Amino acid sequence: MSTSTLTRQPLDPEIVALAERHQRNPEALLTILQALQAARGSLTPPAVAEVARALNLPAARAYGLATFYSMLAVTPAPDARHVIRVCDGPACWLKNASLARAALETEFGREWRIERTSCLGLCDRAPAGLIDGKPSGPLLSENRLVERRNWNGESRAYARPLPGETRVLLARVGQVNPDSIESAMQRGAYRALQKALGQSPETVLAEIEASGLSGRGGAGFPTGRKWRAVAQARGEAKYIVCNADESEPLVFKDRVLVDSDPHQLIEGLALAAYAVGAREGFIYIRGEYEPQAARLERAIQQAEAHGWFEHIGEHGFTLHVHRGAGAYICGEETALLESLEGQRGEPRTRPPYPVTHGYHGQPTIVNNVETFCNVPHIVAQGAAWYRSLSGAATPGTKIYTVLGHVNRPGLFEAPFGLTLRQIIDDFGGGMLPEAMFSFALTGGAAGTLVPPALLDIPVDQASTARGVALGAGAFLICDQTVSPVALARELMRFFAVESCGKCTPCRIGTNEAHLILERLAEGQGRAGDLLELARLAELLQTASFCGLGQSAALPLKSALKHFGDIFEACEN
Ligand SMILES: Cc1cc2nc3c(=O)[nH]c(=O)nc-3n(C[C@H](O)[C@H](O)[C@H](O)COP(=O)(O)O)c2cc1C
Ligand code: SF4
Ligand code: FES
Repeated sequence: MSTSTLTRQPLDPEIVALAERHQRNPEALLTILQALQAARGSLTPPAVAEVARALNLPAARAYGLATFYSMLAVTPAPDARHVIRVCDGPACWLKNASLARAALETEFGREWRIERTSCLGLCDRAPAGLIDGKPSGPLLSENRLVERRNWNGESRAYARPLPGETRVLLARVGQVNPDSIESAMQRGAYRALQKALGQSPETVLAEIEASGLSGRGGAGFPTGRKWRAVAQARGEAKYIVCNADESEPLVFKDRVLVDSDPHQLIEGLALAAYAVGAREGFIYIRGEYEPQAARLERAIQQAEAHGWFEHIGEHGFTLHVHRGAGAYICGEETALLESLEGQRGEPRTRPPYPVTHGYHGQPTIVNNVETFCNVPHIVAQGAAWYRSLSGAATPGTKIYTVLGHVNRPGLFEAPFGLTLRQIIDDFGGGMLPEAMFSFALTGGAAGTLVPPALLDIPVDQASTARGVALGAGAFLICDQTVSPVALARELMRFFAVESCGKCTPCRIGTNEAHLILERLAEGQGRAGDLLELARLAELLQTASFCGLGQSAALPLKSALKHFGDIFEACEN
């Protein structure tokens, strides 16, 4: 069909209505495609082209976007309305996710579409899945598929602290009704904002700087320095962006923070806006966290109704929730901003950094959920109190996840500087019966493989140099049955699947490394494979455009360093 024929045809009224609802704003492209898919079950190429026409965009732009995100399905004709997405992330892999997927295929493959997906942030329910968007798991019990009526199960509440926990950010978990602002306010919510509004923005900013708060999204950048840069930057408008993409495998702390105490996060965002003079903010939350996105929207409405945003600056503050659509790379701050602006989530060149050229080229704070959640406590109780929480070089507390072959997998809050041994024994409940510690993956997929010799290294934001990455605080504990070669293969597959493809070293390098690791894990290695792996790791780290490719090298390098003999044995 020629373009002229297409343009003469009237647009589908459903698509027109969606476009009108967003004032035909091209930035709403992703949101409109998401809504259309929710209504129709899946997208088709003609429907995507019609959305483009309705927004006055080239069809290629809409098609490029629709095929970028894993939660959008562009199929020639609508197929199965029911979709089961089974996680293949490391915690679920360890709990036989492939068995669950095969059993689901056999029993339900005719009526449901069964897909593989990267970590869903449901690692404490491994093997986990999303069934028609609903969080589900564990899908297996003693290696058998659980009954259909039990698929959704229950999510863990974490209401009771473990012995030895220091709860600051999790203090209100289980003590407040997360859907009631009154309940949160009775337990102290918005008192810090009330206090701050009686002080100057500069006082708030100085307190954050003095506290030594550092980013909890993985890189540990000083938060005060970031905020100061935004406060001083020139721009027509300033923005606050909360990174709730939480797609790092083995990490689900932000989900628990939002689920159990959304007002803590909202108060942190409002304080940030006050400190740097921002009028508008966004919470970019991964599309798989729909229940949490809806909870945030309810909480924002309540905060607005209570007038909490009215006195922030001269014009007040507006906060929006923006849903992602399935792409690990959208956690990278510049890819996130692209996605927020309705584009494919491909990273931008840095510098310039978001502090001067962020959302729409304006000064923008991008911080992680956990980082913002610290802010009300610092403002309420002061920097000195905050620094006293941790004996380690990094002030404050951290939320950790401990998973794998331990008795008590889950999540807890404690100061920085714990050793891996303490994490396993004091918080993970020790190794499972019959299980002996063999190694751990620390920091997330973009972390380090750690051998027994490093069990007593205190872990904090500087310990990567000593071989134990903290990253976003995730620890996967593996016993003697797990092969480091097989885990390295799983991690490299994840990076290959999630690579955005913008740069060649990452697009090709992750795939090549995965192919070699696949061979090695099957005992089909070839002479020279290890040398080639080491060369690829170096290439990824030094030549990749963004942190995804650069950090894909970390687990591989540490695996080769500590388990070289096991890798060598796989090379024929
Ligand atoms: C591939 C990749 C994925 C990332 N994913 C996340 C994420 O899911 N959540 C997050 O807060 N930061 C993530 N980051 C880090 C962000 O780019 C950014 O540093 C962070 O949001 C800054 O917030 P913070 O200073 O509070 O940590 C990711 C980085 C990379 C390279
Ligand atoms: S390193 Fe990977 S994710 Fe990052 S820009 Fe290059 S291809 Fe994309
Ligand atoms: S939900 Fe499967 S590894 Fe995280």
